[in-house]
Amino acid sequence: DAPLNPVIKPLEWMLGTWECDEPGEGTFPTIQPFRYTETLHIFHVGQPMLNFMFNAFHSETKKPLHRECGFIRVEPGKDNVAFIIAQNTGLVEIEEGKLSGQELTLQSQSVSRISFAKEPHVQQISRTFRLKEDGRLEQTVCMATEGQPLSKHLHITYRKRAP
Ligand code: HEM
Repeated sequence: DAPLNPVIKPLEWMLGTWECDEPGEGTFPTIQPFRYTETLHIFHVGQPMLNFMFNAFHSETKKPLHRECGFIRVEPGKDNVAFIIAQNTGLVEIEEGKLSGQELTLQSQSVSRISFAKEPHVQQISRTFRLKEDGRLEQTVCMATEGQPLSKHLHITYRKRAP
Protein backbone atom coordinates (compact mmCIF):
# COMPACT_ATOMS: atom_id res chain seq x y z
CA ASP A 1 0.00 0.00 0.00
CA ALA A 2 1.40 3.41 0.93
CA PRO A 3 5.20 3.48 1.05
CA LEU A 4 6.76 3.90 4.50
CA ASN A 5 7.37 7.56 5.28
CA PRO A 6 11.14 7.85 5.86
CA VAL A 7 10.55 9.76 9.13
CA ILE A 8 9.22 6.59 10.79
CA LYS A 9 11.88 4.25 9.43
CA PRO A 10 13.45 4.03 12.97
CA LEU A 11 10.12 2.58 14.23
CA GLU A 12 9.67 0.07 11.39
CA TRP A 13 10.41 -2.81 13.82
CA MET A 14 7.13 -2.09 15.64
CA LEU A 15 4.90 -2.48 12.57
CA GLY A 16 2.55 -5.42 12.26
CA THR A 17 -0.15 -7.40 14.00
CA TRP A 18 1.23 -8.87 17.20
CA GLU A 19 -0.43 -11.50 19.33
CA CYS A 20 0.75 -12.51 22.78
CA ASP A 21 2.54 -15.86 22.65
CA GLU A 22 1.37 -16.70 26.16
CA PRO A 23 -0.92 -14.79 28.53
CA GLY A 24 0.56 -11.59 29.90
CA GLU A 25 0.98 -11.04 33.63
CA GLY A 26 -0.84 -8.27 35.46
CA THR A 27 0.29 -7.16 38.90
CA PHE A 28 0.09 -4.22 41.29
CA PRO A 29 0.55 -4.04 45.06
CA THR A 30 -3.18 -3.44 45.60
CA ILE A 31 -4.70 -6.07 43.26
CA GLN A 32 -4.83 -9.84 42.75
CA PRO A 33 -2.33 -10.91 40.06
CA PHE A 34 -4.11 -11.70 36.79
CA ARG A 35 -3.44 -13.05 33.31
CA TYR A 36 -4.63 -11.51 30.05
CA THR A 37 -4.19 -11.87 26.32
CA GLU A 38 -3.58 -8.98 23.96
CA THR A 39 -3.37 -8.20 20.26
CA LEU A 40 -1.55 -5.15 18.92
CA HIS A 41 -2.20 -3.60 15.52
CA ILE A 42 0.53 -1.16 14.58
CA PHE A 43 0.28 0.26 11.05
CA HIS A 44 0.88 3.32 8.92
CA VAL A 45 -0.92 5.01 6.04
CA GLY A 46 2.09 6.76 4.52
CA GLN A 47 2.07 9.63 7.04
CA PRO A 48 5.10 10.32 9.25
CA MET A 49 3.52 8.50 12.22
CA LEU A 50 2.35 5.07 13.30
CA ASN A 51 -1.28 4.31 14.18
CA PHE A 52 -2.02 1.75 16.85
CA MET A 53 -4.78 -0.28 18.53
CA PHE A 54 -3.98 -2.44 21.58
CA ASN A 55 -6.82 -4.80 22.51
CA ALA A 56 -6.63 -6.86 25.72
CA PHE A 57 -8.91 -9.76 26.66
CA HIS A 58 -9.68 -11.95 29.64
CA SER A 59 -7.37 -14.95 29.26
CA GLU A 60 -10.14 -17.51 29.89
CA THR A 61 -13.47 -15.95 28.89
CA LYS A 62 -11.86 -14.00 25.96
CA LYS A 63 -14.04 -11.04 26.91
CA PRO A 64 -12.70 -7.66 25.72
CA LEU A 65 -11.13 -5.71 28.60
CA HIS A 66 -8.64 -2.90 28.34
CA ARG A 67 -8.27 -1.10 24.99
CA GLU A 68 -5.96 1.68 23.85
CA CYS A 69 -5.52 3.44 20.56
CA GLY A 70 -3.54 6.33 19.23
CA PHE A 71 -0.51 7.49 17.33
CA ILE A 72 3.24 7.17 17.65
CA ARG A 73 5.34 10.08 16.40
CA VAL A 74 9.05 10.49 16.09
CA GLU A 75 10.83 13.84 15.92
CA PRO A 76 12.30 13.87 12.40
CA GLY A 77 15.98 13.01 12.44
CA LYS A 78 16.04 12.62 16.26
CA ASP A 79 15.52 9.74 18.69
CA ASN A 80 12.61 11.44 20.51
CA VAL A 81 9.37 9.49 20.34
CA ALA A 82 5.88 10.49 21.50
CA PHE A 83 2.78 8.36 22.07
CA ILE A 84 -0.66 9.99 21.92
CA ILE A 85 -3.01 7.57 23.65
CA ALA A 86 -6.72 7.19 24.40
CA GLN A 87 -7.85 4.36 26.71
CA ASN A 88 -11.35 2.95 27.05
CA THR A 89 -11.18 3.52 30.82
CA GLY A 90 -11.54 7.27 30.17
CA LEU A 91 -7.85 8.06 30.31
CA VAL A 92 -5.96 10.16 27.79
CA GLU A 93 -2.21 10.47 27.96
CA ILE A 94 0.93 11.67 26.24
CA GLU A 95 4.08 9.65 26.79
CA GLU A 96 7.51 10.64 25.58
CA GLY A 97 10.82 8.90 25.53
CA LYS A 98 13.87 7.92 23.56
CA LEU A 99 14.49 5.26 21.02
CA SER A 100 17.62 3.20 21.50
CA GLY A 101 17.95 0.76 18.62
CA GLN A 102 14.93 -1.52 18.89
CA GLU A 103 14.04 -0.51 22.43
CA LEU A 104 11.79 2.36 23.41
CA THR A 105 11.24 3.66 26.95
CA LEU A 106 8.53 6.23 27.57
CA GLN A 107 7.26 8.26 30.54
CA SER A 108 3.88 9.93 30.76
CA GLN A 109 4.08 13.70 30.28
CA SER A 110 0.39 14.30 30.81
CA VAL A 111 -2.47 12.16 32.06
CA SER A 112 -6.09 13.29 32.12
CA ARG A 113 -9.36 11.50 32.57
CA ILE A 114 -13.11 11.77 32.37
CA SER A 115 -14.85 13.16 35.47
CA PHE A 116 -16.33 9.77 36.38
CA ALA A 117 -13.25 7.59 35.84
CA LYS A 118 -12.88 4.73 38.28
CA GLU A 119 -10.60 5.21 41.29
CA PRO A 120 -7.79 4.98 42.18
CA HIS A 121 -6.62 7.50 39.60
CA VAL A 122 -3.37 6.76 37.83
CA GLN A 123 -0.81 9.55 38.29
CA GLN A 124 2.10 8.37 36.18
CA ILE A 125 2.82 5.69 33.57
CA SER A 126 6.08 4.40 32.23
CA ARG A 127 6.52 1.69 29.61
CA THR A 128 9.11 -0.09 27.56
CA PHE A 129 8.82 -1.82 24.19
CA ARG A 130 11.69 -4.03 23.12
CA LEU A 131 12.23 -6.26 20.10
CA LYS A 132 13.96 -9.36 21.42
CA GLU A 133 16.64 -11.21 19.51
CA ASP A 134 14.21 -14.06 18.79
CA GLY A 135 11.85 -11.62 17.01
CA ARG A 136 9.32 -11.38 19.82
CA LEU A 137 8.14 -7.99 21.05
CA GLU A 138 8.02 -7.31 24.78
CA GLN A 139 6.00 -4.66 26.60
CA THR A 140 6.39 -3.71 30.27
CA VAL A 141 4.13 -1.12 31.91
CA CYS A 142 4.61 0.50 35.32
CA MET A 143 2.22 2.96 36.92
CA ALA A 144 1.80 5.09 40.01
CA THR A 145 -1.64 5.74 41.49
CA GLU A 146 -2.82 8.12 44.21
CA GLY A 147 -1.98 5.43 46.75
CA GLN A 148 1.03 3.60 45.29
CA PRO A 149 4.44 4.64 43.94
CA LEU A 150 5.57 3.51 40.49
CA SER A 151 5.14 -0.30 40.40
CA LYS A 152 4.87 -2.88 37.69
CA HIS A 153 1.36 -3.42 36.27
CA LEU A 154 1.90 -5.39 33.06
CA HIS A 155 4.40 -7.67 31.37
CA ILE A 156 3.74 -9.46 28.11
CA THR A 157 5.46 -10.77 24.99
CA TYR A 158 4.03 -10.97 21.49
CA ARG A 159 4.73 -12.87 18.29
CA LYS A 160 4.18 -11.24 14.90
CA ARG A 161 1.08 -12.69 13.23
CA ALA A 162 1.04 -10.55 10.10
CA PRO A 163 3.17 -7.79 8.57
C1 HEM B 1 -6.32 -2.45 37.71
C2 HEM B 1 -4.53 1.29 35.21
C3 HEM B 1 -3.73 -1.61 31.42
C4 HEM B 1 -6.22 -5.09 33.64
C5 HEM B 1 -5.88 -1.19 37.35
C6 HEM B 1 -5.89 -0.04 38.25
C7 HEM B 1 -5.41 1.00 37.54
C8 HEM B 1 -5.07 0.52 36.21
C9 HEM B 1 -5.23 2.45 38.03
C10 HEM B 1 -6.39 -0.03 39.71
C11 HEM B 1 -5.27 -0.40 40.66
C12 HEM B 1 -5.73 -0.40 42.10
O1 HEM B 1 -6.86 -0.81 42.38
O2 HEM B 1 -4.91 0.00 42.97
C13 HEM B 1 -4.12 0.81 33.98
C14 HEM B 1 -3.41 1.59 32.99
C15 HEM B 1 -3.18 0.77 31.93
C16 HEM B 1 -3.75 -0.52 32.25
C17 HEM B 1 -3.02 3.05 33.15
C18 HEM B 1 -2.45 1.04 30.63
C19 HEM B 1 -1.42 1.88 30.55
C20 HEM B 1 -4.37 -2.80 31.67
C21 HEM B 1 -4.45 -3.90 30.74
C22 HEM B 1 -5.14 -4.86 31.34
C23 HEM B 1 -5.51 -4.38 32.68
C24 HEM B 1 -3.83 -3.95 29.33
C25 HEM B 1 -5.44 -6.19 30.71
C26 HEM B 1 -6.57 -6.81 30.86
C27 HEM B 1 -6.43 -4.68 34.94
C28 HEM B 1 -7.10 -5.49 35.95
C29 HEM B 1 -7.11 -4.75 37.12
C30 HEM B 1 -6.46 -3.49 36.80
C31 HEM B 1 -7.68 -6.89 35.72
C32 HEM B 1 -7.67 -5.19 38.49
C33 HEM B 1 -9.14 -5.17 38.55
C34 HEM B 1 -9.71 -3.81 38.34
O3 HEM B 1 -9.47 -2.93 39.19
O4 HEM B 1 -10.42 -3.60 37.32
N1 HEM B 1 -5.36 -0.82 36.14
N2 HEM B 1 -4.30 -0.46 33.50
N3 HEM B 1 -5.00 -3.12 32.82
N4 HEM B 1 -6.06 -3.49 35.49
FE1 HEM B 1 -5.11 -2.01 34.54
